[in-house]
Amino acid sequence: MQSGTPEVSLWHFATAYYASRCLHVLAEIGVADALDAAPASSEVLAQAIGADAAALGRLMRVTAAHGVFRKTADGWVHTPQSELLRSDHPRSMRAFVCMTGGDMAWRGAGVLTHSARTGATAVESIVPGGIWAYFKDNPEKGKLFNASMAAKANAEIDGFVSAVDASGYQMIADIGGGRGHFLAALLDKAPHARGVLFDQPQVVADAPHRDRIELQGGDFFKGPLPRADAYLISNILHDWRDPEAAAILSQVRAVAPDHAEVLVIENVLSEEPTQEIAQTMDIMMLTVGGGQERTLSEYAALFAAANLRVDRVIPTSRTISVIVGKPILQ
Ligand SMILES: C[S@@+](CC[C@H](N)C(=O)[O-])C[C@H]1O[C@@H](n2cnc3c(N)ncnc32)[C@H](O)[C@@H]1O
Repeated sequence: MQSGTPEVSLWHFATAYYASRCLHVLAEIGVADALDAAPASSEVLAQAIGADAAALGRLMRVTAAHGVFRKTADGWVHTPQSELLRSDHPRSMRAFVCMTGGDMAWRGAGVLTHSARTGATAVESIVPGGIWAYFKDNPEKGKLFNASMAAKANAEIDGFVSAVDASGYQMIADIGGGRGHFLAALLDKAPHARGVLFDQPQVVADAPHRDRIELQGGDFFKGPLPRADAYLISNILHDWRDPEAAAILSQVRAVAPDHAEVLVIENVLSEEPTQEIAQTMDIMMLTVGGGQERTLSEYAALFAAANLRVDRVIPTSRTISVIVGKPILQ
């Protein structure tokens, strides 16, 4: 078969998940932690982590073709991408990669046909109640998920913090803030401000205690939510279908003072198909999260359903955008 033909293109596409799978496995078995500044052979790495040298080298050859590890005459060396698989990297994404290849995501992808046929979330066909109920009943898995969200945010936070002007906010509430990573980063830039981290009780119980951040456990569907000048809603609305997403925004609207700003942080879908992260995330939501990614006009409709209006959209240097909403005043 000639390269560049439709057949070869389809072949590549049909088997592309093997490359992702190699990445998941390498993150899981911790090979990046075993590779330091000096080059190391597959044999040395395999011995350090308890793997088969030949199989390990074959997996690394695949990820190296995607820029994760590099083979030299002296052995394997790190690349900027493989460094991010180290557990001790300050911006480590290892937990996120492990989550995307973890039990829930991988088994969910295996039953995606259920979503295609019914429109329902794939994981709910194997885990009744979906992931939030599952994490509540399995606290250790929940902790891993929270760590993966903090790791994923390492790819987003710098872009968010440098794009947002927080000088006018005295009190910032992070709704469904997980471990509070977005809020903490924004407060570093706003030394005059204070924050409230609002999430489920078992999540805030596990969140780090930080200066100027109050922890509040609760349910964002029931409230009451804290009163604040700015509300961060980061990677939350994409977890839910329209009625639930609008209900969360309505809870915010119910307590927000007239001058408040609602900062929705999401990967916004383009109107046309492109190979962007938002499209892949959309299928991840269909498979596991239960929600969906949205276009800007779909966010505007959600805001309107909650009596909010889109005031402006702030692009960032990363893939995420910040959609800033304000209360519609009667
Ligand atoms: C995808 S994570 C996003 C975390 C964080 N905002 C971020 O951007 O990394 C979704 C968060 O919503 C929280 N959550 C889910 N259901 C909730 C509820 N009913 N009330 C409050 N928080 C909830 C989860 O605990 C989790 O921390």
